[in-house]
Amino acid sequence: MEDNKKILYSGMQATNTLTIGNYFGALKNWVTLNEEYECFFGVMDLHSLTVRQNPTEFRQNARKLYALYVAAGLDPKKNCVYYQSHVPAHTQLAWLLDCFTYMGELNRMTQFKDKSAKHADNINAGLFTYPVLMAADILLYQTDVVPVGKDQMQHLEITRDIAERFNNIYGDVFKIPEAYIGKSGAKIMSLADPTKKMSKSDENVNATVFLTDDSDTIIRKFKKAVTDSEACVKYDPKGKPGISNLMDVYSCVTGKTSAEIESEFDGKGYGDFKLAVGEAVASELAPVQAEYNRLLKDKEYINGCIKENDEKAAYFANKTLRKAMKKVGLTEMIR
Ligand code: TYM
Repeated sequence: MEDNKKILYSGMQATNTLTIGNYFGALKNWVTLNEEYECFFGVMDLHSLTVRQNPTEFRQNARKLYALYVAAGLDPKKNCVYYQSHVPAHTQLAWLLDCFTYMGELNRMTQFKDKSAKHADNINAGLFTYPVLMAADILLYQTDVVPVGKDQMQHLEITRDIAERFNNIYGDVFKIPEAYIGKSGAKIMSLADPTKKMSKSDENVNATVFLTDDSDTIIRKFKKAVTDSEACVKYDPKGKPGISNLMDVYSCVTGKTSAEIESEFDGKGYGDFKLAVGEAVASELAPVQAEYNRLLKDKEYINGCIKENDEKAAYFANKTLRKAMKKVGLTEMIR
């Protein structure tokens, strides 16, 4: 570990396959930032358990997520890409932090409210304390920066609050992390209803573009994207949410600003624009998909990376955990 590098931490739940929301909102930024920081990326399998999982599919999804991280450009020899559930310090610190988190704070979390409405038959305690486990993930690694999409900002804020509360009592145990939100793509909207966030679990098959969709499917979904009847490519998220969302996606791929995109499609119809967005996304994802399919077959390489990085993560996490346990007055183990 290089002493002078700041620490970056992030992760994703291991459910279904990723969407282009996950990719442009988070994963692509991780790849851009990974040289600059000392990075830890978790396969957040414990968080996924807050919703019922089919065990066989769940195990496969976790593996696929690991392969997608690597295929997207996170070299596991340079980045610590590991499984959250393989490092028990996460759940241990989460318990300590539970005792420093108020019910009222957790009650205000919009993700808890949304997920409770969606899974009314399974509003479990894990769903309620989800943000505390996330705080533990981040704080264990003395993290400086956490690149996430906009929907995770509230969880980042509660992480900071919990850390500050703990530090105020016990001294500087945790680094206070900052969120990193990308310039574009922080909130990719559904292609079927651009007032709703694009989500893995949308029932409408045309709403979500998955990272593993083939080129034809990607282009077809973009062609069907809901827009408006004005036929003018102009950035106006309130008045033209569909077109603005497609512009955001196009900007994520090409790096172009809204003004540049507006002038590129000046006088052209929505058909041309949607096709261009679909083709741009498909060609960005094609090499990631090819590498992903190759990696899934290379079991030995992936297993080796997981083992090595689980150990590395545990080493760093345990240092912070031991410090926090000592500070609150738990008796140290006799070795
Ligand atoms: P998850 O799996 O729900 O989301 C993973 C990442 O994808 C981003 N994201 C989006 N960004 C833009 N547009 C969208 N439509 C979109 N949908 C999802 C999310 O903001 C997120 O960055 N709770 C975390 C997982 C986690 C975590 C952590 C993250 C657990 N522990 C510690 C950072 C640090 C989550 O929402 O995952």
